[in-house]
Amino acid sequence: MTDTIRIFDTTLRDGEQSPGCSMNLEEKLRVAAQLEALGVDIIEAGFAIASEGDFEAVSAVAKQCETAVVASLARAALGDIDRAWAAVRHAKQPRIHTFIATSPLHMRVKLNLTPEATLEAIRTSVSHARNLCADIEWSAEDATRTDPDFLCRAVEIAIAAGASTINLPDTVGYATPETYGAMFRDVIKRVPNADKAVFSTHCHNDLGLAVANTLAAIMGGARQVESTINGIGERAGNAAVEEIAMAIKVRGDIIPFRTNVVSTEITRASRLVSGITGMAVQANKAIVGANAFAHESGIHQDGMIKDAGTYEIMTPDSVGQGATNLVLGKHSGRAAFRQKLDELGYKLSDNEFGDAFKRFKDLADAKKAIWDEDIVALVDDEVLRGHDAIQVVEVEIYCGSNGPQRAILTLNIDGEEHTAAVRGNGPVDALFNAIRKLVPHDGAVLQLYQVHAVTAGTDAQAEVSVMLAEDGRTVRGTGADVDTMVASARAYVNALNKLMVKRGRNALEGLEARA
Ligand code: KIV
Ligand code: ZN
Repeated sequence: MTDTIRIFDTTLRDGEQSPGCSMNLEEKLRVAAQLEALGVDIIEAGFAIASEGDFEAVSAVAKQCETAVVASLARAALGDIDRAWAAVRHAKQPRIHTFIATSPLHMRVKLNLTPEATLEAIRTSVSHARNLCADIEWSAEDATRTDPDFLCRAVEIAIAAGASTINLPDTVGYATPETYGAMFRDVIKRVPNADKAVFSTHCHNDLGLAVANTLAAIMGGARQVESTINGIGERAGNAAVEEIAMAIKVRGDIIPFRTNVVSTEITRASRLVSGITGMAVQANKAIVGANAFAHESGIHQDGMIKDAGTYEIMTPDSVGQGATNLVLGKHSGRAAFRQKLDELGYKLSDNEFGDAFKRFKDLADAKKAIWDEDIVALVDDEVLRGHDAIQVVEVEIYCGSNGPQRAILTLNIDGEEHTAAVRGNGPVDALFNAIRKLVPHDGAVLQLYQVHAVTAGTDAQAEVSVMLAEDGRTVRGTGADVDTMVASARAYVNALNKLMVKRGRNALEGLEARA
């Protein structure tokens, strides 16, 4: 057994399954590039059969990746597996990740299969995948609620059929560290061909135990961990990559392993994913939260001045928190701006670059210091939303204690400008009513409206997230501007654009195809 724990990142697949976190192709490519910079070993790029968009994204990530293994998820169905292979086959190191549920409840209710039929499905699906691809991962969905004897039989069959990685997921976040670690010990001890496979963990966070369970599984013999940036994922999310990597690094004394994670890239990865998905990171989140290295009380501050080791078990620099630089200002030219975009991983067309540069100059007039976060918010907002069919043209708001609050809003809808003047209970309500008047969408419900400042200072850009839900579809839009109301209009309109794209998507993308 090696002392290196392989990091399998599923931000682009399980992470993208978080409500409203879907990413477009360009966004997925940027996340994949950052995941490689972070040093993850395997990138699960998506679920190729789920939709045409997912297939294209997995293929594009497969073609782009230089160092990471690229995997696509597939159910235990030959068509799924063929589609996964078609998407990853151009990768330098392709992997097919196929799964089937093994718990009594899932087999009976979801799959309508007997245990014997499930074992047969494992045999045929894994051997079919192995005939296509040399690197096969097999997962026993809901492993932690599976009968241990049956789990051992299933694992043995999957390895015999050609799986070289065996994943035992805690699909519903039900395990505790003791039980999860013991499950790995037990399966590895009892399955006769266990030495022919690497065992993998995949933990959901329903009880807040995902990272603890992952570490327990490592102590129980797992040598691959599945996780996501910022812990995004189904329901309460997955185990967070940054927490696992830093736990292994900081507590090498009792977790005697290493990973290939370049820890100084952690903060950049976290910000990229939260910026793209609109899923803000809570301030007290371990490793990457805004307060993770903040010291408020006098006693703590005093200790920190004397020796940072008194209250810090790792330095902010070690996770890339010191990497945020004062980057550009009013006098910065096109070359400096282009170089900064390169550093941040953007590849823009000439037109996109021109639009972004103009927006940067406007921002530099409004705000003294421009930071990395400002550039990321600006480019994501201006350029990546540039193809939206509905665009915000102008926002005028009347607000204050005397009311009534009113919004005059102009939108460009499919190339034509339309204006509405509407009242509301406060400026945000007036603004959103104006959008509803210009683009009626009665079926959609506003589920979240969230504002956060991109940097410190009263001249900071506001980054707004809006979540809309309609018929079981959830979308999240983001917008940024020094004017919070403009950012709010952009965020709502961005969500609306995504909703329209989703309405048109392949029905297979729905629940049935999702793990
Ligand atoms: O949570 C889970 O069981 C999964 C599998 C498909 C790996 O995401
Ligand atoms: Zn999962």
